[in-house]
Amino acid sequence: MNILTDLTELVSAVFEKHGYGPSYGGVTVSNRPDLCHFQCNGALPAAKVFKKNPLAIAAEVADDLINDARFASAEAVPPGFINLRLSDTFLTSLLQGMAEDERLLLPLMSPKTIVADYGGPNVAKPLHVGHLRSAIIGDSVTRLSRFLGHTVVSDTHLGDWGLQMGLIIAEMEERGLAAADVTLDDLNEIYPAASARSKAEPDFAAKAAARTAALQGGDPALRAVWEAVRSTSVNDLRKSYEALGVSFDLWKGESDAEPFIPLTLGGLRDKGLLRESEGALVVDVALPEDKEPMPPMIVQKSNGADLYGTTDLATLLQRKRDFNPDEVWYFTDNRQSLHFKQVFRCAKLTGFLSENGKEMTCHHYPFGTVNGKDGKPFKTRDGGVMQLSGLIDMVVSNAFEKASSSEIGINEAELGMIARQLGMAALRVGDMQNHRSKDYVFDMDRFLASEGKTGPYLLYTAVRIRSVLAKAGEAPGGTLLPPATDTERDLMLILTMVSDALLRAYADKAPSAICDILFELAGRFNRFYFEHKILSHPDRNRRASWLSLLALTDRFLATLLGLLGVEIPKHM
Ligand code: ARG
Repeated sequence: MNILTDLTELVSAVFEKHGYGPSYGGVTVSNRPDLCHFQCNGALPAAKVFKKNPLAIAAEVADDLINDARFASAEAVPPGFINLRLSDTFLTSLLQGMAEDERLLLPLMSPKTIVADYGGPNVAKPLHVGHLRSAIIGDSVTRLSRFLGHTVVSDTHLGDWGLQMGLIIAEMEERGLAAADVTLDDLNEIYPAASARSKAEPDFAAKAAARTAALQGGDPALRAVWEAVRSTSVNDLRKSYEALGVSFDLWKGESDAEPFIPLTLGGLRDKGLLRESEGALVVDVALPEDKEPMPPMIVQKSNGADLYGTTDLATLLQRKRDFNPDEVWYFTDNRQSLHFKQVFRCAKLTGFLSENGKEMTCHHYPFGTVNGKDGKPFKTRDGGVMQLSGLIDMVVSNAFEKASSSEIGINEAELGMIARQLGMAALRVGDMQNHRSKDYVFDMDRFLASEGKTGPYLLYTAVRIRSVLAKAGEAPGGTLLPPATDTERDLMLILTMVSDALLRAYADKAPSAICDILFELAGRFNRFYFEHKILSHPDRNRRASWLSLLALTDRFLATLLGLLGVEIPKHM
């Protein structure tokens, strides 16, 4: 069931019946909820085409709709809007249908196979908040897509094959550090040191570049060092992602695409697409219609080393061969937009995207920067990049403090669990309530507040509903009655709009649409809750109906929070 689709169909049929064709019947949620629930503005464009008064057309359509039992009112108002209010009986029957359906009548789409690339941590390089954002958004979009019926293969796509590996290996050599002895703490310190050094010392930079090329060329000794470094780093990454509640089907990396590189370059060469430029190999990807500069994509350096783009190109071929997906999605920050444009264009030129009679489309879903309170990219107090594990610890310990001040009489272990759930909800909602394209300010105090648009606020609401249901002493299951008050009607109405919000979130790959409907839902529930004495209501049927409405609201909240990867604590 999707209320907007259903109403659009209905209103379109009436437009058609009156000779205007069905295209004017689009119904949207009303932007004046005080006047109506839904609206249709199609009479305005119809008036232009049919050279008639828009209000007259709106009246023709509204007069017809008013006879439909689904509407309490259908009004034409100047200059030519059609304002619709659902009838209470129809609204109630819609909700009864949802209550009886395992999926709450939420939509299923025609299934696609998708490879989703997010997280993108780099081996032996500290993870930063940008990686956190990629993981959180990618994870939520994956959960949503699966819920809507798609098959999603998620892949971290580790950065494990570029110059940073050569830098680390060169630095280990200089320090006389053997691969077997290298610890995580060493690694966290080595990369920044090596990177700084390569900028100051040209000889060191040349050595790092040579090690990168030799590693990629298959040197067995370097390969052994690389494997040791990679596994130390990956073990730690797995722990951080587990703490975040983010999981991946595949832990592949750039290096896994290595066997596909000769194939990719060969394909480009056969098609005459490779061009030599100052010893490097490049592909021209500019198009005549480009309004912005589109430099050629470098696929091989003059020393034979591969680049980030080369491994991405080869990974696309690998994904095509392994999964033959309909779509491949990338979640990274917007500074990589040009990179992905080049890679996608180049991949299209190779022709492999349409192998096996099926076109694989590639999409980059960029996101904005996470800033500190000073408006600059988020850093720790000492000015360094905040590491993910440190960040998770900080969030959970803040949440722990908050939970211990409000929770009396529960044991330490339970408190720890609540703190983790509270902290992760704060972090995830703090991030995802912002549209992914926007920068936002990382402010843990605000994220953890119990009021306002926060994760904890949503959790308090969910826990409140569950505690009322637990106190009721009867299992909810009573038949829903038509709403008794405006606030009850408002709550019921918002439940009919969830389906549309999910489709919007999916279309835009934007979990913020899920957050928006959650805040609206929680707000309307809380208004209803504070206005009604649910448990002590004298009329048994009304009380039972309210409990059913609460149970239904709870299912919606749990489903939506689940799509954000947020768990509801037992109590708070
Ligand atoms: N490792 C990259 C980074 O840290 C992100 C990887 C994104 N995925 C990809 N296929 N390029 O920026």
